[in-house]
Amino acid sequence: MAKEKNIKNLEDLPGIGSATAQKLRDAGYDSIEKIAVASPHDLSELVGISVENAKKAIDAAKQATTVNYETASNFYERRKSLGRITTNSKNLDELLGGGVEVTAITEAYGKFASGKTQIGFQLSVDVQLKKEEGGLEGGVLFVDTEGTFRPERIEAIAKAKGLAPEKALNNIAVVRATNTEDQILVIERADKLIKEKNVKLVVIDSLTALFRSEFLGRSALGERQQKLNSHIHKLQELADDYELAVYVTNQVMDNPGILFGDPTTPIGGNIVAHAATTRLYLRKSKEDKRIVRLVDSPYLPEGEVVIRITPDGISD
Ligand code: GTP
Ligand code: MG
Repeated sequence: MAKEKNIKNLEDLPGIGSATAQKLRDAGYDSIEKIAVASPHDLSELVGISVENAKKAIDAAKQATTVNYETASNFYERRKSLGRITTNSKNLDELLGGGVEVTAITEAYGKFASGKTQIGFQLSVDVQLKKEEGGLEGGVLFVDTEGTFRPERIEAIAKAKGLAPEKALNNIAVVRATNTEDQILVIERADKLIKEKNVKLVVIDSLTALFRSEFLGRSALGERQQKLNSHIHKLQELADDYELAVYVTNQVMDNPGILFGDPTTPIGGNIVAHAATTRLYLRKSKEDKRIVRLVDSPYLPEGEVVIRITPDGISD
């Protein structure tokens, strides 16, 4: 076997020149370890190299990475002790394995009025509850990119949960982002606020809308995906560093490539698909009913439940 070249920098990987390395860094892949766990399709999509070459670079990165392991039982214990936030629907909590989990990104996608924002409001109240009530006694950073944050809804949901509305509202830091720069910056500078307000839930409603409207056309796709990827990486870092939950909403489009079945596809391609730990697909049903489907979970079975959007918030 050929002797492995000593690999320390991204430029040491096969087929990665300095320009490509810079693109990778800009997209959040700033270490050999991160390349080692990347998917070939993501890398290919992000920096415009072939999937074949991306595979080669990833393989080399894997070879060069030392393995830090913990035993599976240790991992399992740690997982079980991590906090979860109730959705206020027993069925949905069960579908999620006990609620929305911390150190993870949970994504809800679906058409307009499918309930994505309402679930964000419910979680923003529920995270403030005591542990035994399904909360984490934490605050919220709510990034509103669509101008649809409604304090009245927080007030109503808080009342229904027995929290003082004034207090509940005070525990939520709302940031209105009107362009992707704002959106990215809020998350990049969130550390201080997270510590001050003991934030246990970050909501981005919506994750993709501004990216979609600012980066139009095929030519802008690469840049859009790079920026989005680095944004999501930062979100995952916050989730890990502060043991908090990240809840993001995502729009959908009709994918004309799908001839049979449901053509509804979430925005953001592979980048968002791989980064979200758990994906929920929301569909409207009769009246206040919504069907929630668990699409992609590393450890939970796929399934569907029905929730209701009531004046008091989400319920079974
Ligand atoms: P977009 O942001 O437009 O993509 O949709 P979304 O998925 O975020 O929808 P959202 O979560 O805002 O759900 C909107 C739906 O929630 C409405 O169609 C109403 O049915 C319901 N809803 C919103 N506010 C109230 C309320 O005060 N009471 C009740 N009962 N339902 C509400
Ligand atoms: Mg919404």
